[in-house]
Amino acid sequence: MQVIKTIADFRELRRQLSRSVGLVPTMGYLHEGHLVLVKRARTENSTVVVSIFVNPTQFAPSEDFSTYPRDMGRDLKLLEREKTDIVFAPSCEEMYPSEYSSWVDVERVTERLEGAHRQGHFRGVATVVAKLFNIVQPTRAYFGQKDAQQAVVIKRMVTDLNMNLEIVAVPTVRESDGLAMSSRNIYLNPEERQAAAVLFKALSLAKQLWQDREKDADTIRHQMTSLIRKEPLAQIDYVSIADTETLEELKLIDHPALASLAIKIGKTRLIDNILLE
Ligand code: PAF
Repeated sequence: MQVIKTIADFRELRRQLSRSVGLVPTMGYLHEGHLVLVKRARTENSTVVVSIFVNPTQFAPSEDFSTYPRDMGRDLKLLEREKTDIVFAPSCEEMYPSEYSSWVDVERVTERLEGAHRQGHFRGVATVVAKLFNIVQPTRAYFGQKDAQQAVVIKRMVTDLNMNLEIVAVPTVRESDGLAMSSRNIYLNPEERQAAAVLFKALSLAKQLWQDREKDADTIRHQMTSLIRKEPLAQIDYVSIADTETLEELKLIDHPALASLAIKIGKTRLIDNILLE
């Protein structure tokens, strides 16, 4: 496994790769959710590249950029085990030199859900992902379905800007009580960790109601909200039943929908979703 830190070195190496390249973009502090993406990339590509870069531009000033968990040594061991070929781990200065001035703004699908609660977040995500695509030139790139809106935004960007690669969204990996794996779960104390199971309970309730043929989105939102309110440590940012492509809130669920939520457990903000299809 080669660890590359500069864009120039990566380009040099990229010239020698003629067959398919799978890219798994990450911010490091890897967990099983990331490793499933790497495994999938391994089965579908000749070369697997994993990027590790905690992207400052997708964090608002009030967010956790400086405390975001990092452990490069552990990440490299895990990636070696998954037979990763190349790790691209640039510095902030390498990705955003002092004269940096260009941004990718995806409109509409970024206005709701996470976009409405995290100002500038998707501008930072779209920009860094576009940069990684330009540097790595992957055949396919792999993203977790846990960040459902991120996957929608990136697919939109790839279509709109005619980027020549396939985006693969991979199902969420969960702990035994259903909590979606996330690097931020590390922030939860034992009591909060137990309370965090409420996210998946609410999503499972949505799925159950929908399977029982409940088509009224408001009814499902209300039932999810009442269940979450029973958990004293949980504070709701949003509970949504939306169209899977436009992410517009639905009244009637008569086509595939995305049930998603953002909940604060103590100081930790967690997101999750489930497809109703
Ligand atoms: O999902 C993430 O970890 C990040 O948003 C990504 C796609 C690596 C961009 O920084």
